[in-house]
Order: sequence, then structure tokens, then C-alpha cells
Amino acid sequence: MKKNHQPPEKGNTRRTFLTFLGTLAFLYPVLQFAGFKIPKKPTYVNISKPVPATGYLVTTGFILFDRDNKCWALSRTCTHLGCKLNYQEDKDILECPCHQSRFNVETGQVVKGPAQKPLTFLSVEKRQDDPLYVVTT
Ligand code: FES
Repeated sequence: MKKNHQPPEKGNTRRTFLTFLGTLAFLYPVLQFAGFKIPKKPTYVNISKPVPATGYLVTTGFILFDRDNKCWALSRTCTHLGCKLNYQEDKDILECPCHQSRFNVETGQVVKGPAQKPLTFLSVEKRQDDPLYVVTT
């Protein structure tokens, strides 16, 4: 009778591990295609200065509005291809410098394409003391 030099559990463990890796390698692109995303950890941005009398404050990643007793923030990332949006104060719209998509500043909805999706609203906590605003990105 021939002796097996490897304990059976070790072979099973390796096979199970390789099966797991193969399943993961197959499922990951399928889940990505289906729109599954691993949730990111939220980042809190503290803003210590008040929003100017114009009613808006532009930062690198978002625009914070505080006017008409309402406070909200919109991402500055264009939903078309990701360029940084600019606020056009005279037209009260967010406009993309790359392909001129336009977004409504109160709803985040597309006013003019080629962008198809609305902008991302960010959670804003308005406070009485410093920091005056905490924006969750
Ligand atoms: S990246 Fe903004 S419209 Fe194309």
C-alpha cells in the first residue's frame, strides 16, 4: 500500500483557499458591474469661518451654501467626467469648465448636459460655535 506523504487536511485547506480566491476573482467584477461599492469612511470637514454675505463658500471639494435660512453643500465633482465645477453667481448655477454641463444649485439636478446624473448633496451641520459648519464628505 502506498503512503500519502501529505496529511489530508492540508490539501483540503489549500484547495478551499484556492476555490475561495477563484470565487472572489469571479465575483468582484460581477459585483462592480452591478454597481456594488464598498462604502467609504466619512470624512468630516470643519469650517471655522462664516459663509460670506454672498451666501456661498467655495472649497476644493464642495460648495457650501447658507442663504434664505437654508444651509446645504454640493460636491464640486461633475457627474459627467469628474471636472471641478465653478459657481456662476450671476446665473446661480454650477457650471463645468470641461464640457459646459450645468447644474441647479438648490436641487443639484442637471440643467444642461452632457452630464446625466445630479450632483451629490453633502450633509451639513450648522453650529453656534467653532467650527461653524461640519460637512460630511
Ligand atoms: S466633465 Fe463636466 S461636463 Fe464633462
